[in-house]
Amino acid sequence: MEKVRLNNGISVPYLGTGTNTYGKENNEYNGELNGDFSALESAIECGYRLIDTAISYRNEAGVGETIKKSGVPREEFYITTKIPADDQYIKDKDTVRETLNQSLSNLQTDYIDVYLIHKPIEDEQKLRHTWEVLEEYVSNGKIKTIGVSNFSIEDLKRLDQFATVKPAINQIKSNPTHWNNEWIKYMFTEDIRPQAWGPMKTTDDHKKQLSEIGESYNKSWSQVLLRYQTQRGIIVIPKSHNKDNQKANLESMDFLLSEEDMKKIDQL
Ligand SMILES: NC(=O)c1ccc[n+]([C@@H]2O[C@H](COP(=O)([O-])OP(=O)(O)OC[C@H]3O[C@@H](n4cnc5c(N)ncnc54)[C@H](OP(=O)(O)O)[C@@H]3O)[C@@H](O)[C@H]2O)c1
Repeated sequence: MEKVRLNNGISVPYLGTGTNTYGKENNEYNGELNGDFSALESAIECGYRLIDTAISYRNEAGVGETIKKSGVPREEFYITTKIPADDQYIKDKDTVRETLNQSLSNLQTDYIDVYLIHKPIEDEQKLRHTWEVLEEYVSNGKIKTIGVSNFSIEDLKRLDQFATVKPAINQIKSNPTHWNNEWIKYMFTEDIRPQAWGPMKTTDDHKKQLSEIGESYNKSWSQVLLRYQTQRGIIVIPKSHNKDNQKANLESMDFLLSEEDMKKIDQL
């Protein structure tokens, strides 16, 4: 799997799997937890090693257990999780430490590869002490990479005023219904790597156009869409409960779109 080097020198895969409906009734985000992690098992079997979870998905423990049970060595995985911007998790420094320790315990690991702040924290003091504790955990080796999610340009600027460690990743929505290119352009100038959540969301019209572009490469609309993002430097974390789709998404990495086709997709 092709990797991308982050601003801290660590390389991570360009493509991983989301997990926000894994381990839940009817594969629904708000569904009851049912312990069914077969979709994650199959993703790992297919070769996914970048796994994106979050405290708010309520499934860290199941994700950790599934990774452990896979028998694949821990060091092959890149586990991402996220701290919610709620007082319960970030009230003061000790609360943040308890939250991070709980993630380490849930994920059954000595270190977490990527820890993100899930949403902007409006309160300046809480943002500052949350980031400081994340930096502390980078220093003590319990977290390798820290970053943010859903941060606007303004949010990134606020963080930049006091951050000693720069965020390496900003995980944001990006798909043909909303590329979010203004934020993405800013992130590239600041050497903050964009990571796209919800990357598969699109319209029937876009699917038709992407399918047409894919014909000459023998690739589907979804593969063209994912390749467009990775080829322009964006990490993607598509989520699927279907093994064929999981495989197809990985196979988006084995071809290159022409410059002309990249431009056509820019215009969608
Ligand atoms: N940071 C944040 O605030 C935030 C917000 C939302 C999501 N996320 C993360 O991003 C991950 C991805 O986002 P998402 O799960 O919301 O949406 P997504 O990955 O864009 O879309 C998931 C949908 O796409 C379908 N799909 C996947 N591969 C396909 C393919 N090759 N062909 C056709 N359909 C395909 C899946 O159906 P099948 O199951 O039938 O394949 C599923 O219905 C999440 O799981 C989560 O980890 C983060």
